[in-house]
Amino acid sequence: MSESIERSLVLVKPDGYRRGLSGEVLRRIEAKGYVPIALAVTTPTREQLAAHYAEHEGKPFYEPLVEFMSSGPVTAMVIEGQRCIEGFRSLAGATEPTGALPGTIRGDLGRDWGLKVQQNIVHGSDSPESSAREIGIWFPEL
Ligand code: RTP
Ligand code: MG
Repeated sequence: MSESIERSLVLVKPDGYRRGLSGEVLRRIEAKGYVPIALAVTTPTREQLAAHYAEHEGKPFYEPLVEFMSSGPVTAMVIEGQRCIEGFRSLAGATEPTGALPGTIRGDLGRDWGLKVQQNIVHGSDSPESSAREIGIWFPEL
């Protein structure tokens, strides 16, 4: 792998999966030019989520977040391309779907449902360190 090619771990969260948006998220990723190199549908275990969201442990939204994320299947994927970590965060839009810009996944497809945690359709790694750690959790074979 060339040094400038990055990988990012993307999840279509249970809200996105339930709404049938996995294909739409993948469509936007491929339309942007990033390449999926691993893809799986899986219902996350609490152990996986505790590892994935370790940075948020103790925050008020942590328990609702783990509950939400374990509520059903997610579509997990690893995407590849130069600067795809930043690029996918840009495609995803801001964490809060109400203010996320139109044109982004969260801005076009998400909304606030008045719940204890924001349901915002997708997750994307936020740094090369997070990406390596998260790919180890979701795709240990890579
Ligand atoms: P993600 O990790 O899922 O890509 O999202 P993010 O970086 O934009 O947001 P982060 O701060 O890492 O938070 C992780 C997820 O927790 C939920 N959240 N809800 N105040 C709230 O209701 C709240 N804050 C965070 C969201 O699902 C967020 O994506
Ligand atoms: Mg995050």
